[in-house]
Amino acid sequence: MPNSSEPASCGAAGRTDEWTVVARSDDVDPGPIARSVGGRPIVVWRTAAGRLSALADSCPHQGNPLSDGTVAGHELLCRYHGWSVASDGWCERAAGGTRAYAVREVGGDVCVRDPMGDR
Ligand code: FES
Repeated sequence: MPNSSEPASCGAAGRTDEWTVVARSDDVDPGPIARSVGGRPIVVWRTAAGRLSALADSCPHQGNPLSDGTVAGHELLCRYHGWSVASDGWCERAAGGTRAYAVREVGGDVCVRDPMGDR
């Protein structure tokens, strides 16, 4: 029996348990790209080292979309005032951050966990 915390498959059906396919892996090269999960806007991107990240698409400064920004090394740089956010959502300047979602790649798909399933 599959564990509900694991994406048994994030295939063409688009949704398996609380995991949602949001993109193909090749689409995140490195991003950022705007998507949504559970009706909430998210941004998906990769660090320079290839680490995948899915964050709420809201800058911790003034809430503008992080998906308008650019990847700079291991951080996502907000285009509006230059604040940067790490792959785990941490923003040094805000002394806080933006919400990070569980994200995985399965069979060439990028799968994000829908927080409505566990919170
Ligand atoms: S809104 Fe992102 S740095 Fe200001």
